[in-house]
Amino acid sequence: MEIKSISAFITGGASGIGAATARFLLSKGAHVTVMDANSERLSAVLAEFGERANGFAGDVTNPGDVNSALEAATTWPLPLRVAINCAGIGHADRILQKDGSPHSLETFERVIRVNLIGTFNVLRLSSGVISRMPVLEGGERGVIINTASIAAFDGQIGQAAYASSKGAVVSLTLPAARDLAGVGIRVACIAPGIIDTPLLGQLPGEVRDRLAREVPFPKRLGLPEDYAVVAEMIIRSSYINGEVIRVDGALRMSPK
Ligand SMILES: NC(=O)c1ccc[n+]([C@@H]2O[C@H](COP(=O)([O-])OP(=O)(O)OC[C@H]3O[C@@H](n4cnc5c(N)ncnc54)[C@H](O)[C@@H]3O)[C@@H](O)[C@H]2O)c1
Repeated sequence: MEIKSISAFITGGASGIGAATARFLLSKGAHVTVMDANSERLSAVLAEFGERANGFAGDVTNPGDVNSALEAATTWPLPLRVAINCAGIGHADRILQKDGSPHSLETFERVIRVNLIGTFNVLRLSSGVISRMPVLEGGERGVIINTASIAAFDGQIGQAAYASSKGAVVSLTLPAARDLAGVGIRVACIAPGIIDTPLLGQLPGEVRDRLAREVPFPKRLGLPEDYAVVAEMIIRSSYINGEVIRVDGALRMSPK
């Protein structure tokens, strides 16, 4: 699939990994539709992205919002062939706090809702739209890329909710690829390591430095562009399907 002949739908595209991926695909000639819950940041990135980008402010867990965003994604002259799930939230809390009180159930549900149910909502609704696109040589129609995290495999202390949500996104990859094979839609998943985005920017400088030192090679935090080039490879390589790719500099996270 040639990037310049497609339009792509990117959730969480107003910040961090999603915004970098939108920027990267635009630089390769794609048309892009960005969906994000943060309308202020969305307006700012759309002003930067220019005339091959549009957007919709909404919540990925809301079917009406996702359908409206997908409508915006089908106004381009190029077919919608790619949906990338980057919307997500982080949360850190122990199952039992130091004072013995339990992890909030509401918070656990919220993380699962955005990271897992939001991803599934976009997967199910975007696959319907992509399945109606003209078929390419080889029978392909498009590809959906989900975003997990290495916390899916090496969840740390305090990551019960986040790691559970991302572990489920990993487990979704193969059955989704199998379900959508009949309509020529591939499904892949990227599991990033520690990527320097606003989500991580909340951490103190010395914690960021320590995290960077723990990465075997290259000894730095990941960049959102490290994700974007892998997303491009997945879009272009029609034989990548049902796979989870770690992008982490060989980092295996310790318990804390
Ligand atoms: N930064 C990292 O180190 C890292 C590592 C592994 C995985 N990830 C995952 O990558 C994805 C992107 O993370 P990021 O670091 O770019 O974060 P970010 O906070 O910079 O961007 C996430 C975007 O998602 C949007 N969003 C959140 N909830 C939403 C909702 N319900 N509906 C629509 N939009 C919503 C936010 O407004 C924000 O713009 C997330 O799924 C995150 O879990 C990040």
